[in-house]
Amino acid sequence: MPSPQCPESVIPSRPIDPAKVVAEQVEAIRAQVGTNRAICGLSGGVDSAVSAAIVHRAIGDQLTCVFVDTGLMRLREPEQVERDFVQATGAHLVIVHAEERFLVALAGVTDPETKRKIIGREFIEVFDAQARRLVAEAGEPVRFLVQGTIYPDIVESGDDQGAGTIKSHHNVGGLPDDLAFELVEPLRMLYKDEVRAVGEELGLPESMVWRQPFPGPGLGIRVLGEVTKARLDVLRAADAIVREELTAAGKDREVWQCPVILLADLRSVGVTDGERTYGMPVVLRPVISKDAMTAGVGFLSDDLLTRIVSRITAEVPEVNRVVLDITPKPPATIEWE
Ligand code: XMP
Repeated sequence: MPSPQCPESVIPSRPIDPAKVVAEQVEAIRAQVGTNRAICGLSGGVDSAVSAAIVHRAIGDQLTCVFVDTGLMRLREPEQVERDFVQATGAHLVIVHAEERFLVALAGVTDPETKRKIIGREFIEVFDAQARRLVAEAGEPVRFLVQGTIYPDIVESGDDQGAGTIKSHHNVGGLPDDLAFELVEPLRMLYKDEVRAVGEELGLPESMVWRQPFPGPGLGIRVLGEVTKARLDVLRAADAIVREELTAAGKDREVWQCPVILLADLRSVGVTDGERTYGMPVVLRPVISKDAMTAGVGFLSDDLLTRIVSRITAEVPEVNRVVLDITPKPPATIEWE
């Protein structure tokens, strides 16, 4: 259902023509933003990258992108955003290193919704401080905030008529009133596959356009239990192996997403080289989906599963068991928290 905030002229007819969507959005963004300045929070994910790229296409250096390194990203992700995004778009990017602050705020917290709220709050505070700095440096108001909201986000956040909130989705919409931005949301009417088509049209690299969806709160909601640096490092190592093996097997486009979840408060007995271990389990959650509103199981071959399990248990000493989640959505959501 079209949102009242989206002018009818930019609601695409389906199937979409990516070049037409880009042309229409560029025109709509120029009309909205004029000669004003805009900022965009990059998350490392497809949606914010494509939004930023399209806005950059429209207004060039009037846009500044901000990437907050929360310490909850996957292995080498911050470096990748810096390299891939800037190379592809030439957009101005500011990176804020805030790992320590997120870890302190999350210390001792285990409840999923509390974690999400803390991560959202910290993100907004860091982003807010950075935005104020940019406003001060620019010497002129920064009136617009670009967001990578896509259609399923609107439905799942309960903004759309008739849909209740399923989980509190984290974005930068909760900024304080004295830092009032007007929102620019060029992907608001698009589904994920359409966002990818638009990203390809904009010339973003495959590694960015076909990156699997990654939640705003990052690995903070994939470490079940308290989030600590040590636990995040264990999960990052296991997750990197899974992503490497999925890519090597050519599964990146077929499997919509394969979260790896660390059951950090559980221990089970194992044996390695004749020695007893008492390690943590990780869960593989391969899913297939079109828009993440529903999902099926992304079945992986025995060979691929065997390789993933043997590599994780050999290369990540803290993990001695790998389990497979084969529950569709519904009833289970894709993420565990
Ligand atoms: P669930 O777990 O609700 O996830 O089935 C659906 C899709 O949304 C992603 N996800 C999020 N994305 N902020 C985001 O930007 C969030 O807070 C968030 N929570 C879940 C999830 O990875 C999946 O692709």
